[in-house]
Amino acid sequence: MGHGIAQVLAAAGRTVDVYEPDLARALAGRERIVANLERAVAKGRLEPTTRVEILDRIAATDRIVAAAEADLIVEAIFEDEDAKRALWAELDAVAPGRAIFATNTSSISIDRLAEALAPGRRTAFCGMHFFSPVPVMPLVELIRGSATDEATLAEVRALAADVGKQVIVSADRPGFLVNRILMPLLAEAMRALDEGTGSAEDIDTGARVGLNHPMGPLALADFIGLDVVLGIMRVLHADLGDEQFRPPPVLENLVAAGKLGQKSGAGFFAYPRA
Ligand code: CAA
Repeated sequence: MGHGIAQVLAAAGRTVDVYEPDLARALAGRERIVANLERAVAKGRLEPTTRVEILDRIAATDRIVAAAEADLIVEAIFEDEDAKRALWAELDAVAPGRAIFATNTSSISIDRLAEALAPGRRTAFCGMHFFSPVPVMPLVELIRGSATDEATLAEVRALAADVGKQVIVSADRPGFLVNRILMPLLAEAMRALDEGTGSAEDIDTGARVGLNHPMGPLALADFIGLDVVLGIMRVLHADLGDEQFRPPPVLENLVAAGKLGQKSGAGFFAYPRA
């Protein structure tokens, strides 16, 4: 998600630092943007000169002090509350007072993450949830924590509009709006598979052809990443206590086996490497 967010911000004229503690990973994220923009040029959707201008605005860094110059920080690390809190505490120490802090969490409570920040900073903290693939999906879910102030919401809303995204606003409830809707669908598809109600192919064809979804739920889970889906379901199950969010055994087993979906080459379906 991080490289996609960097791409849309840079395409809208912002200067972006892609930060990873491991420089090789930051550079790999930037390379994915290079590939996306090359594809856009090849398809005639982007001028070659514009591609160069966008790339000139994106730097890769392993130095967290880059945040000392930031007006906006969007955190998009993996869905782990402790890891996110630790990173936000580090960022709090280096970022300027004017910076807006936005987390791309898919499910974790904004108020719990805000506890990692000095109390004075919490008014400028909110959720800014993008959807994958970020350059294609036109939605941003804006999540308001109990301390988030109106100025922060207005600024993030304006920024999202500026990068061409439509905004919806959610209260700080587990899974917010979209994953609250999506996760039971994915879990039911997995349970139907587990019970032998139908094959993975037929479950997905049912959703694509019968419901007009662009991808079936099992292919979508593979696309999001099964580890990410498992993390989100665990948060929803723990925080809402509803059985519909309990991660199905087939999901737990695939993740334990290292089958994480498209990115690992296998999940509910196989993705042979080219
Ligand atoms: N990065 C950038 N662009 C991409 C891309 C990627 N990873 N994958 C596809 N695209 C672009 C293509 O370049 C193409 O662009 P043009 O039309 O301008 O040429 C366009 O998307 C369509 O791609 P394709 O023709 O290759 O394939 P498609 O028509 O099958 O569409 C899809 C691919 C957009 C991914 C479509 O299948 C889809 O919409 N799937 C559902 C995606 C979805 O639900 N995302 C949300 C997941 S939930 C989430 O992200 C939040 C969370 O917290 C879990």
